[in-house]
Amino acid sequence: MEASTNAAAPAETPAIRVENLTMAYGDFIIMRDLNFTVNRGDVFIIMGGSGCGKSTLLRVLVGLKEPAKGKILYREGSLWDSEPEKRDAILRRTGILYQSGALFSSMTLAENIGLPLSQYTRLKPRDIRELASLKLALVGLAGFEDFYPSEISGGMCKRAGLARAMALDPDILFFDEPSAGLDPVSAHLLDELILELRESLRATFVVVTHELASIFAIGNNSVFLNVETRTMSASGNPKELLAHTTDPNLRHFLTRGEK
Ligand SMILES: Nc1ncnc2c1ncn2[C@@H]1O[C@H](COP(=O)(O)OP(=O)(O)O)[C@@H](O)[C@H]1O
Ligand SMILES: [Mg+2]
Repeated sequence: MEASTNAAAPAETPAIRVENLTMAYGDFIIMRDLNFTVNRGDVFIIMGGSGCGKSTLLRVLVGLKEPAKGKILYREGSLWDSEPEKRDAILRRTGILYQSGALFSSMTLAENIGLPLSQYTRLKPRDIRELASLKLALVGLAGFEDFYPSEISGGMCKRAGLARAMALDPDILFFDEPSAGLDPVSAHLLDELILELRESLRATFVVVTHELASIFAIGNNSVFLNVETRTMSASGNPKELLAHTTDPNLRHFLTRGEK
């Protein structure tokens, strides 16, 4: 199926606006002068070669690493210029799926997914269990409530991690290399699931990946971080970037494995 174009009207407030962002570790600048917009309903891909700063950018977007310069603007305002309470409120609308899936191995799937619910809500254990079942069903894991992570496949663990990221009904979901370590079939299923959830939940997805198949299958918007120039060289629909880019690094990135 074709990746659908962005459904959000242009006049709508963006989900995230990144302005003049520079990221550094100490004096070492990873990326400078990033400017791009994530629209509501986007599956937005952060593209770039290994070590260019994709994971760092994700950490800046979700409030884990402070920018050296620039702003991350959410609907409520600037993430890094906000008081702690406001920042928490912004981040409560986000969910994150880390590369490993990062489920607790000593807890069942229902307990893993219930954890954020018991931390951040006053729901009764019975209701938490019910919500956990609901989230598991959303990712195709109905009936796996009492399984431990070691008892299910890597692809299923990723989906359970996604269910946990969705526990608090976030508007924006962030994924770091969701298909890393998965076989091609499981990776494809995960892509399909992302598109389904985008339709059914009307959520916004920000996905770090260098998998070309995923980029073209699910991405309707993107930014390319060029490791050589240490800044972005383009932002937009990956298919359009492939058709029109004049940046040889981006062209190479988007045509790997082809002549
Ligand atoms: N905690 C850290 N301290 C210092 N340098 C780091 C740290 N984390 C990552 N880096 C460096 O920052 C660059 C970007 O890393 P990263 O964001 O992980 O890239 P990517 O996810 O695109 O592979 C790399 O050169 C990496 O070595
Ligand atoms: Mg990374």
